[in-house]
Amino acid sequence: MQESRTTLADEVERGLGAAPDSQTLPCRFFYDEVGTLLFEEICELDEYYPTRSELQIIDNHADEMVRHASTVIELGSGSARKARILVDAALRGHETVDYLPVDISRKALELCRPLCDEFDRVTVTAIHGEYGPGLDTVREVTQEARSVFWLGGSIGNMDRRMAANFLSSVAGEFNDRDRLFVGIDLRKDQETLHRAYNDRSGVTAAFNLNLLSRINRELGGSFDLDQFRHVAVYDDDIGRIEMYLESTADQTVDLETPPRTFRFAAGQRICTEYSYKYSLREIETLAANASLEIGRRWFDNERRFTIHEFQRPQPERCVESRNAG
Ligand code: TRP
Repeated sequence: MQESRTTLADEVERGLGAAPDSQTLPCRFFYDEVGTLLFEEICELDEYYPTRSELQIIDNHADEMVRHASTVIELGSGSARKARILVDAALRGHETVDYLPVDISRKALELCRPLCDEFDRVTVTAIHGEYGPGLDTVREVTQEARSVFWLGGSIGNMDRRMAANFLSSVAGEFNDRDRLFVGIDLRKDQETLHRAYNDRSGVTAAFNLNLLSRINRELGGSFDLDQFRHVAVYDDDIGRIEMYLESTADQTVDLETPPRTFRFAAGQRICTEYSYKYSLREIETLAANASLEIGRRWFDNERRFTIHEFQRPQPERCVESRNAG
């Protein structure tokens, strides 16, 4: 299977080599071992509602989601907690269950492995890689029906056009019985969003800053973590949270591999992630742009988060003829 498309060194060179205020670092590098554990901590925070809201939906509706399929593929397995509920639900409807987590984090995959020992009618096949290998998995594991899960609101980390393209490429591998379940964070009041990405205890800041520690560790970087700060702002028009690392001083930072020096002015920002939020209208547009149908949809009690079911347009069903009035 294919590993990450480009290495951290390539991305740092390209992303930090860009003009000031167009600098970026790609969010897939958040999830080294330290980052994966920090993200697990974020998911436990009072302020970070998405994990809890989504978990509530899965708790209440997992049976309905996996009823038709004994093969469960999860793109970005994240915490094994959701997987446990899904697998458990699938076992209620099927003799045996195949669970295939795909994740860029080896740490995250490790957390899924114990499922095998917990349930003896479950086969776990962990696949390390990004969405490419995820698509390969959907292509290669052909069963009668599959439930593919893309949870955690990760769809928000793509822009709206890319998200539609990705949905359409997953469903491109689908037969009529396969279903794609996507966890989507909804648009909501700015305060709730702001708090979710600016927690009081600073875990989110540590998570964002870990990207710089990772560059220090893996590329011999000289980032001083006290000279950068985490910034997360919500743009209500676009409907997205923007995450940055902001230089708090005029400074230079050196890399050993490749040997480079980057200059940062005070206030200069490196963009690390966008997190798009959706209205129901925007989800309908998403489905239309992906040429998919929306099936069922579920919400948490506070309607902060949703899981939507997507499917290929179903063949015309026989509609009973009604007597014209
Ligand atoms: N994908 C998650 C989200 O959009 C990741 C995340 C949560 C994140 N908090 C963050 C990424 C802070 C960068 C910085 O909700």
